[in-house]
Amino acid sequence: MADGVIPPVLLVGCGRMGSALLHGWQAQGLSPSFVLDPAPTAMSMPHRQVADAAFVPEDFRPAAIVLAVKPQRADAALAAIAPLAANTLVLSIMAGCTLANLAAFLPDGCAIVRAMPNTPAAIGQGITVACAGRHVRPSQRALAGRLLDSVGTTEWVEDEALLDPVTALSGSGPAYVFLLAELLEQAGREQGLPAALARTLARRTVSGAGALLDASPEMDAAVLRRAVTSPGGTTEQALAVLMQPEAWPSAIRAAIEAATQRSRTLAR
Ligand SMILES: NC(=O)c1ccc[n+]([C@@H]2O[C@H](COP(=O)([O-])OP(=O)(O)OC[C@H]3O[C@@H](n4cnc5c(N)ncnc54)[C@H](OP(=O)(O)O)[C@@H]3O)[C@@H](O)[C@H]2O)c1
Repeated sequence: MADGVIPPVLLVGCGRMGSALLHGWQAQGLSPSFVLDPAPTAMSMPHRQVADAAFVPEDFRPAAIVLAVKPQRADAALAAIAPLAANTLVLSIMAGCTLANLAAFLPDGCAIVRAMPNTPAAIGQGITVACAGRHVRPSQRALAGRLLDSVGTTEWVEDEALLDPVTALSGSGPAYVFLLAELLEQAGREQGLPAALARTLARRTVSGAGALLDASPEMDAAVLRRAVTSPGGTTEQALAVLMQPEAWPSAIRAAIEAATQRSRTLAR
């Protein structure tokens, strides 16, 4: 897709993820658009905010309708936008809502992209994985990519089933990293560090290590790990505990497996 303003969008649901997307689009120049959400937010201005799809003017032709409501609200949102969706791209970020189930609510032949972003999208650092339905034209896929890239980077998969492990890894993944920060902070306090210092050290260690990883795309994480592991040193002692087969390797594997299974169960 060529650079320039983003064509008109109907954003359905302007909560945490929807407002992050809107912010990203506005930063790139968004054509006059509509936000459909029961509660007005300052964030959605200067675009027209409506609480009901009936208030979207009949002559408004969005290039994309972006669905960002909770999955439990999907049926109502899909019913509301179905009359507008005949010749436009529908981009859904709703967890667990499959292409087939989205299609069941939408006009025949509707172009649908299903995507799974994650919360660092709120600061433009998200990673999204997207899967295009069979009616999506190349220009619509490019538009979906542009809308998603405005809050980070986007990877595409052909096999929709991969969105279950994607959800487990990157969709839920920020929570695992926050847990790591919590546990480091707690363990630092237990070793006698003042609470404020333990908190600062834990947070900056997680964010700094993440930034270093990000700045080293050619290097495997294992290489970076080995680079800070001196033989006989402190890091080696800690890693010997964490890398016991029954410690992190099995805990992380079990966690991702459990989340993947849960995603499969919730898929509808
Ligand atoms: N947050 C994440 O980390 C994350 C990651 C990946 C994917 N997602 C997906 O992103 C979607 C949105 O999540 P979120 O965390 O942004 O949720 P959220 O903060 O609850 O935002 C959803 C918004 O949609 C509004 N809404 C509810 N029903 C609506 C309807 N029928 N039409 C229009 N708007 C409606 C809600 O208003 P009320 O509050 O008044 O109901 C709320 O403002 C979910 O499907 C989730 O699976 C989220």
